[in-house]
Amino acid sequence: MIIAIDGTAASGKGTLGRTLAMRLGLDHLDTGQLYRAVGLAVKQADLDLETACDDALKALVEGLDLSQNFGPELRSSEIGELASKVAAIPQVRTSLLEKQRDFAQQPPHGKGAVLDGRDIGSVVLPDADAKFFIDAAADIRATRRHLELKARGEDIDFSEVLSDIIKRDCRDKNRTVAPLIAASDAFFIDSSDKNAEEVLAICLDHLDSEHEPQAANGL
Ligand code: CDP
Repeated sequence: MIIAIDGTAASGKGTLGRTLAMRLGLDHLDTGQLYRAVGLAVKQADLDLETACDDALKALVEGLDLSQNFGPELRSSEIGELASKVAAIPQVRTSLLEKQRDFAQQPPHGKGAVLDGRDIGSVVLPDADAKFFIDAAADIRATRRHLELKARGEDIDFSEVLSDIIKRDCRDKNRTVAPLIAASDAFFIDSSDKNAEEVLAICLDHLDSEHEPQAANGL
């Protein structure tokens, strides 16, 4: 069983990915963490994205141990912004593509996988068994992200968080390679007025309805 979840920044796709995987006994990969890890590595190597050559980026991504536990520094607004910049670079996406497919095809516990990100249903796993696309109004997503960053101790204004989210959505949707897009066969959920449990329940209902045995003709 392979499930693809895509969506906008702070739409709740990470929480949904985690809880859905737990409920179904599947492994979960938050692919945003991979791009965030590359963003952190770029920062640590003091690499200038405007001038860095493809080989330097390739070496940086391939030298990363993506299975390590990166810790909370990946969740900062600075690293989120850097992640969205490195994610627009074709060389970075190509280097991460196989890692994501390998995880889906050989999940650690062997039962199946849930991957969440921006291009999972459209590019990484176009043949996934189920696809979800999750979105919410920008001000609601900014409120959620503002609370998350404040809980982490970041001193940041709501207006800055909102403008970062809008900028990041715009960059993600308009990049030339693997832009953020709902796959045509994805099930759409607007989480603006729904909490995490409600979103999970909608997904589980959808999966149940999709996998209900079909009644035989004439019975
Ligand atoms: O948590 P949030 O939704 O803010 O972001 P994330 O999922 O951690 O992803 C950080 C950034 O990585 C996004 O803004 C995207 O630019 C990029 N990303 C991507 O391009 N493709 C993916 N499959 C996952 C993330």
